[in-house]
Amino acid sequence: MNLAGNLAGKRILLIVGGGIAAYKVLELIRLLRKEEASVSAVLTAAAQHFVTPLSVQALTESRVCTELLSLTDENEMGHIQLSRAADLLVVAPATANLLARMAAGLADDLATTVLLATDKPVLAAPAMNVRMWQHAATQANVALLAQRGVGFVGPDEGPMACNEYGPGRLSEPPAILAAIAAALHPPRPLAGRHMLVTSGPTHEPIDPVRYIANRSSGRQGHAIAAALARLGARVTLVSGPVTVPDPAGVAVRHVETAEQMLAACTASLPADAAICAAAVADWRVAGTAAAKIKKVPGAPPPALALATNPDILATLAAPGPSRPRLVVGFAAETENLDANATAKRARKGCDWIVANDVSGDVMGGEANEVHLVTAAGVEAWPRLAKEEVARRLAARLADHFAGSAA
Ligand code: CTP
Repeated sequence: MNLAGNLAGKRILLIVGGGIAAYKVLELIRLLRKEEASVSAVLTAAAQHFVTPLSVQALTESRVCTELLSLTDENEMGHIQLSRAADLLVVAPATANLLARMAAGLADDLATTVLLATDKPVLAAPAMNVRMWQHAATQANVALLAQRGVGFVGPDEGPMACNEYGPGRLSEPPAILAAIAAALHPPRPLAGRHMLVTSGPTHEPIDPVRYIANRSSGRQGHAIAAALARLGARVTLVSGPVTVPDPAGVAVRHVETAEQMLAACTASLPADAAICAAAVADWRVAGTAAAKIKKVPGAPPPALALATNPDILATLAAPGPSRPRLVVGFAAETENLDANATAKRARKGCDWIVANDVSGDVMGGEANEVHLVTAAGVEAWPRLAKEEVARRLAARLADHFAGSAA
């Protein structure tokens, strides 16, 4: 990988954990400085048994921080500024203990406080005894951190200082350097593409204070919008009422009803792809009451007359000059998942259907188990966190557009 110019001027905050491999960070700092990156460093108390602040300071040519309190003495917001001033935080070596403290969200020293306070990407290079690495606790911590967006490089496999053999060695400094370059310059295969995503439920008013809704949280659709934006797409997210925050780097149009959602979608065209993840209400109340419906003692409950809502997915998928090149729908099914989803794909006229079984805890939950239905057939994905489903779907979209002409 040619790194020339790639890292010049980039600000790396190196967080050095206490492990026998800590000496390798001196070589990493040397490589980073050669690439003209600026490096500042935080050493944990344990790290100082393996490398001295003085040697790190000499190589980084900047002040090395070790104490939370000395930093706070200097400036009330020191640790916040330290974490925000960097382009990337690199934890090397990331010991089992440091990973556990990161996963738990502890802030009991400067290193963990900075990691908790940062809004910048974090790359971790684990190093520890092979059994500590393979321990279920460490693996669960790594999985949790990866789910939260922490990147990992290594560990490598090989003979270890403790006379054991296996995964646990700190990656070599050139490999960590390459991972740093990749983290700072993530691929943007969807750059120049416009992706339209619908998400969340719709609220269909009965009167000014009551509405019909469903259990959709918007987590899946919002995660898809975020994943597409991370791949460089310009994303318009048309969202029903949700409590999840607007994803970063995405243009969000907030709507309440299915009719408003359709209007916002058509106003957002043209788009290269439309991904309809919203749980749109199939019906709205015909003749919404202008004033709150009063409860009259002794009177029968009011009857609600329903009207059919427009089908946003079918509308976007209908042939025409403004049809997005790829239209993706979701199918929430409680039985005959593949057969119903395949039939739905044909009925709605869309290209792909992401089908999920909602008979369990999917709606509003953390994970999703989906089947992707395309013209080529049905592909079963394993049970994954909704963020991971989103990442995979975004990668599939990127592959699709990479394989088709502009
Ligand atoms: N959808 C839509 N507009 C609607 C209803 C659904 O855009 N008015 C979209 C959803 O966003 C989803 C797909 O259609 O992508 C499937 O929705 P679903 O409710 O599962 O299917 P239905 O067509 O309503 O069929 P059924 O309820 O019979 O399963």
